[in-house]
Amino acid sequence: CFLNWESNEMRLALIQMDSKVGEIDRNVDTAMGMIDQAASDGASMILLPEYWSTGFFPGLRDYKLYDLAAPDDGPAMSAIKTKAHEHRIHIVSTIYEREGSDLYYDTAMLVNDEGRIIGKYRKTHLFDTEKNYFDRGDLPLSVFDIGSARIGVMICFDWRFPESARTLSLAGADLIAHPSNLVLPHCPQAIITRCLENRIFVITANRVGIEERISGNPLHFIGQSQVVDP
Ligand code: ACM
Repeated sequence: CFLNWESNEMRLALIQMDSKVGEIDRNVDTAMGMIDQAASDGASMILLPEYWSTGFFPGLRDYKLYDLAAPDDGPAMSAIKTKAHEHRIHIVSTIYEREGSDLYYDTAMLVNDEGRIIGKYRKTHLFDTEKNYFDRGDLPLSVFDIGSARIGVMICFDWRFPESARTLSLAGADLIAHPSNLVLPHCPQAIITRCLENRIFVITANRVGIEERISGNPLHFIGQSQVVDP
């Protein structure tokens, strides 16, 4: 997708993938192949879905999955940093982040074209069973300037609260990157409203696929990744 505003422009790719719970090596391989493809198609910025490396493990209600968490130099983020540097692109990647020995966050990181993390945001509005796994985000909704754009980040269920996009808009965002694992049907429409009311772009990368749960009710992820203009 090609975005153009004021005198700036950006070629953008959204990755929409199916991830398998706990199969980090396989999910990383899949995503890195897609990043290579998007970069060779000319993307200068890439957004991955939430949970791209771990799968949506909170849906399983299995309390033994804390070991999927990793620090920001673990295998998934190391692969992202290497690709960002190799292709000279910006990447927004969300991981199950462990800080120290006992803090766990749903964290989106903006990696620059030198492979360095230049922004972090930890999800504020935890969805349903996510509260079993994550501490509530301790970093404010923030905007990071990459030269061609001022990028705000919110994560999945943050969409449900108009204050998230408004806060980022008031902080000067041109564009909100919105990594997601959406199951509710309303988000794609609601994002259009968020863009209209705030005069911003929002890009949502969502996953696809189905995840079985112990409770029997499988989760169906709705895909529908989208780019919406102001
Ligand atoms: C969600 O916030 N992952 C639905």
